[in-house]
Amino acid sequence: MKKRVLSGIQPTGSPHIGNYLGALKNWAKIQYDYDSIYCIVDLHAVTTYQNPAELSAKIQELAGILLAIGIDKNSLVLQSRVPEHAELAWLLTCVTPVGWLERMTQYKAKSEAQESIGDGLLQYPVLMAADILLYQADVVPVGDDQRQHVELTRDIAQRFNSLYPEHGETFTMPATHLPTVGARIMGLDDPEKKMSKSEPGAGHSIGLLDPPDPIRKKIMRATTDSKPAVAFDDPGAGVRNLLTIYQAFTESTNEEMRARFSGMRYGDLKKQVAEAVVAGLEPIQKSYREITVEQITEAFNLGSARAEHIAHHTVEKVKRAMGLYTG
Ligand code: AMP
Ligand code: TRP
Repeated sequence: MKKRVLSGIQPTGSPHIGNYLGALKNWAKIQYDYDSIYCIVDLHAVTTYQNPAELSAKIQELAGILLAIGIDKNSLVLQSRVPEHAELAWLLTCVTPVGWLERMTQYKAKSEAQESIGDGLLQYPVLMAADILLYQADVVPVGDDQRQHVELTRDIAQRFNSLYPEHGETFTMPATHLPTVGARIMGLDDPEKKMSKSEPGAGHSIGLLDPPDPIRKKIMRATTDSKPAVAFDDPGAGVRNLLTIYQAFTESTNEEMRARFSGMRYGDLKKQVAEAVVAGLEPIQKSYREITVEQITEAFNLGSARAEHIAHHTVEKVKRAMGLYTG
């Protein structure tokens, strides 16, 4: 029996190279080493208001991108198609102390930026825990910003297992899987901030579907520092981010990176980074243009059918553990 891998991505904004290097590239790489399930988490997206027409277009776009990256059509799941995500989230909500949720860094940042906070924003990590535990995932490949949420998932699983031990362990303990390079890609305009779909600045992120010239322009304008050339052992945040992007796209070793970039002028560094990004995205963009709506519908049908089977089994197990009626 293969171990199971599970991860998710929200269909908000457009996926960028941070999503790709932090998570999606890994998803594709390890998918056949595991029994894999990758979710488009539309129920997470609506924790903050989404324009309905835009949201449905973004779901299609993201599905196309995931298929273009090489995610198997049998592994792609649209979260809202499997009602057990929401059902398990409720059952887990009932074993989760509010204090655990209020401590989440992402919740604190998002709630500070909003006037009125929806309950969904606080519940968000419980829904994520439900995604993971529903499929009894062993491994969760994510970027660094999701590490705390996976830790919380383990805490919730542990608490559930110890509160309801009568039928043995209900949930598998999941482990976080971070990429060795690229777990936290920073904004090109501000290397102190993580690259994010919700940052408005035009020079902040590189979308996976951005054409070559805008990519080159954004990278040439990326914020660096006042030094003239790469100090490889102690680069500033901006230069370090560019080096990371290059290394993650080209899968160069540390030695190759040092030999290539030590002492290189920033202008030349940026040109090389831009070409590596353009070359890395080119095959994805080419496949994306060939993906049809029928292929997306087929993937959602196949993935959801397979997921429903596993999800139903887990929810039955959870209900039995809690003494709820299972028929
Ligand atoms: P999201 O767009 O928030 O749904 O994130 C999808 C995946 O991309 C998650 O695994 C995140 O950890 C990862 N991710 C998001 N932003 C970045 C970033 N700037 N650097 C690395 N990984 C990221
Ligand atoms: N919260 C994650 C993010 O914003 C997305 C997500 C939802 C997820 N469910 C998940 C990631 C389950 C891994 C596993 O990036």
